Parts: sequence; C-alpha cells; structure tokens
Amino acid sequence: MKITTNIKELQQRTSEWIAQGKKIGFVPTMGFLHEGHEALLKKARLENDLVVLSIFVNPLQFGANEDLDSYPRDQKHDKEIAEKHGVDVIFLPDEQTMYPNPLSINLTVVRRTDVLCGRSRPGHFDGVATVLTKLFNIVRPSRVYFGLKDAQQIAVVDALLEDLNFPIELIAVPTVREEDGLAKSSRNVNLLDQERKEAPYVQQALQCGRQHVENGETNPEKVIEKVRQFLEKKTHGKIDYIELLSYPMLQRVETIDQQVILATAVYFQNARLIDNVIFNEYGIKTLG
Ligand code: PAF
Repeated sequence: MKITTNIKELQQRTSEWIAQGKKIGFVPTMGFLHEGHEALLKKARLENDLVVLSIFVNPLQFGANEDLDSYPRDQKHDKEIAEKHGVDVIFLPDEQTMYPNPLSINLTVVRRTDVLCGRSRPGHFDGVATVLTKLFNIVRPSRVYFGLKDAQQIAVVDALLEDLNFPIELIAVPTVREEDGLAKSSRNVNLLDQERKEAPYVQQALQCGRQHVENGETNPEKVIEKVRQFLEKKTHGKIDYIELLSYPMLQRVETIDQQVILATAVYFQNARLIDNVIFNEYGIKTLG
C-alpha cells in the first residue's frame, strides 16, 4: 500500500492506470474510519482493479460554529483499516496541498441543500462539492463510493456528477446497522443506557411510515404524522425534523407517486441521531 501526500505524483500514477484500462474505485473520507467506511472499502475492492482512499478533513465544509480542530483523527488506525481492505493508495494531503491559494472559483450548490440536515448547515455542501471536484480531478476514478446514512450528501454528489459531467459512477452503499437496527455511528457511544434502548425505534419509526405507504397511503403529511406519533410514543428524544421528499431531487411532493426519502433527526441528551429509508410509490424499499 502506497501513501502519498503529493497531487502530481498521484495524478501520474492514476494516469498510468487509466492508460492500462484499469478501473479505479475511490472512497473519499475525512478519516477516523469506522464500519461504515469499511463497507465502502469492501465494495470498492470487489468492484475495481485499484482502490484509492483519501483522508482529508476539509475545512471548507465546516461552519463557523463547528469545531474543525476537534474533529477526531487517528491516522494509525486508518492505515490499518486501509491495509486490511487492500487499499492500493491512500491520498493524505494537508490543507496547504489542497488549498495553496485562496480559491478564485466558488462552487455553490443551489438545490437539494435547504432541506434535511442541510438546512442547519449553510455552505456545508458547497464545501463538499468543491473538495470532491478537486479530488475527482486528482484521482479520476471510474466509481466513487458513499454511504446511504448520509443520503443528502449522495443526492448532492449525484447532482455534481450530472451537472459537471464527471464520467464517474456513483455507488450508494447501504447503511451499516447494529443487530437491533440502529444505524452505526461514532455518536452512538454518547447515548445514555435508556436512550440506547430507545435508539432502534428511530429506524422502526421510519419503517412504520414506509409500511403505511405500502398499505396504500399517498399523503406525505399523514406518513410524517405516523412517524412522529411512533417516535413520541417510543422515545424520549426531541424530534429535530421528519421529512418526506422526492429522491434524489429532494423536493417536496404533494402525493407519493415516485421514489422518496423519509428521513428524521432526533436529539437525545448527548447525541443527535439521523436515519432514513428510501422507497418507491408502493412503499417498496429501493435503495439501502
Ligand atoms: O463524507 C465525508 O466524509 C466528507 O463529506 C467527504 C465526502 C469526504 C468530503 O470531504
């Protein structure tokens, strides 16, 4: 496994691979790798000749009130995980390498951002789109891998690839879950004992909403209400949002007549849990 911090060197290497007709699978991350990332690496390893992992904590996607400096880092552990999954190259740039000069060009994501978690993180997806554009131009992958836990990020990447004509296939990898259905997250350790017992109800509430559609409901408000009632009955969490939107366009729908995402964020004392389910107009799960 090669580790590089140098853009030109990586571009040289990936150009050679592309000239040889090799498929490159790319997993962009901010490090501190967990089982969700491992699922991405596993799939990338299976589907491509070569796998590139990038680790870069991107300052552009952090808001003023979000502490970039306290973002968790553990390079030793990350390298072990990468080794375990047969990564060919880790791209590990620093901030000076990625942003040597103030940017003259700003990418602004104008749709798919003012909903779900994006509403409370203005500018976040602009930063994600900018760094990914740079990384795609450096790595030039055939396929890029993202976890469906962050379905809004996948929707934004889908638009980025489409609008800017990147010849890259987007692979959405199902959320990794605990046995009881709770989506794995580094934040789960912050749940109090009682909250940990209640946390699986977050996914169950969404499934209850989906089931309602499977049983014939087409009114988004009624589905959202079902989820709200379920969450309020089964948990002490404070609901941040419950939304039902078209997917991947992330627009409000009057009636459920296409693929949609039903998503929620719930605050517990020391952890905010997010989860989602994506299904079609018949309530049949289509992604994840
Ligand atoms: O999901 C992440 O870890 C980041 O948003 C990404 C895609 C690596 C861009 O910095």
